[in-house]
Amino acid sequence: MKILGIESSCDETAAAVVEDGRTLLSNVINSQIDIHAVYGGVVPEVAARSHIEVVNPVINQALSDAGLTWDDIDAIAVTYAPGLVGSLLIGTLAARTLAMLKNKPLYPIHHVEAHVYANFLNDKAPEFPMLALIVSGGHSQLMLFRGHGDFELLGQTCDDAIGEAFDKVAKILGLGYPGGPSIAKAALNGNPLAYQLPKAKLAGAYDFSFSGLKTAVLRAVQREVGVDFTFPSTGLAARLDDVQRNDFAASFQRIAIETLVDKTAQAFRDYNPKSVVVAGGVAANQELRRILSERLPIHIDYAPMNLCTDNAAMLATLGFYKAQKIQPTSPFELEVSPSLSMNNW
Ligand code: KG4
Ligand code: ZN
Repeated sequence: MKILGIESSCDETAAAVVEDGRTLLSNVINSQIDIHAVYGGVVPEVAARSHIEVVNPVINQALSDAGLTWDDIDAIAVTYAPGLVGSLLIGTLAARTLAMLKNKPLYPIHHVEAHVYANFLNDKAPEFPMLALIVSGGHSQLMLFRGHGDFELLGQTCDDAIGEAFDKVAKILGLGYPGGPSIAKAALNGNPLAYQLPKAKLAGAYDFSFSGLKTAVLRAVQREVGVDFTFPSTGLAARLDDVQRNDFAASFQRIAIETLVDKTAQAFRDYNPKSVVVAGGVAANQELRRILSERLPIHIDYAPMNLCTDNAAMLATLGFYKAQKIQPTSPFELEVSPSLSMNNW
């Protein structure tokens, strides 16, 4: 079964074809990073406009890269939640129209759940029960999957998502957007023990918090450059030298990663899963992978970097498993749902 995935929930327009939820036939990603970099973050209206311009060419490219025509496609899977409403609308309207025109079954997909399915494209598919650490720009959650569509939320962030914390701290330090990759790069040349930053202690055994850590970085930078809290945070970066910047990046990254790994290790001990996966943009972080593999007594197969950040292959993969279990949605009725949580199916 060949499924075409379409993704447009944030600042990537992507389309991909996956066969039987296992074999990647094509994977096209049009990133808007350059368009938003000048603003230091995603501007929703600009994102939606860019999706409109490229959605059809991206879909056509995915078909031609796979060497397929519409006749070969068995179904369409599209992100309908969560994300920016204007961005979600473009992908879903394209998918709905194509499903009607080409007479294909349509499967609505939850973007965060789809991130987990990037790991099913590895040589060996993960086994259930599967512990999933989901770490992206909008989400930080620990989930236990007992089967496809059968999962339980164990813990989540009480405030900022981990990727959001990377992006905000990068801004304070004057590192480029997106913050995750630029902090990871700066941290390679920094001392992770240079600054003592706090690790949040929470009542929930598997919950996270990153807002305090971000503020702690802000206060430490203010102290380091010799100004008080009234000094504008936008002016701080110019007063840091490269050594300080790299040391802050490394010290922040160490605590952020330790927080994630501590909770994942605790959930591993408590639930004894058969596999562990890491999903979402922050799963691309090499230091997170290294520490996690060091701390957990289980082999972890990580998804390739380009399938950790937003892509449509993960949608087409999850679409395959949905097609085995549930009925398609009417293309005349599908609506977007910008803040929907993950639900069993
Ligand atoms: O999953 P994703 O592409 O989009 C969302 O669904 O949110 O995740 C984007 C997030 C951004 O916050 C970005 O800074 C972060 O993933 N990220 C990283 C790395 N690459 C991307 N964070 C840490 N280390 C990285 N190497
Ligand atoms: Zn994402």
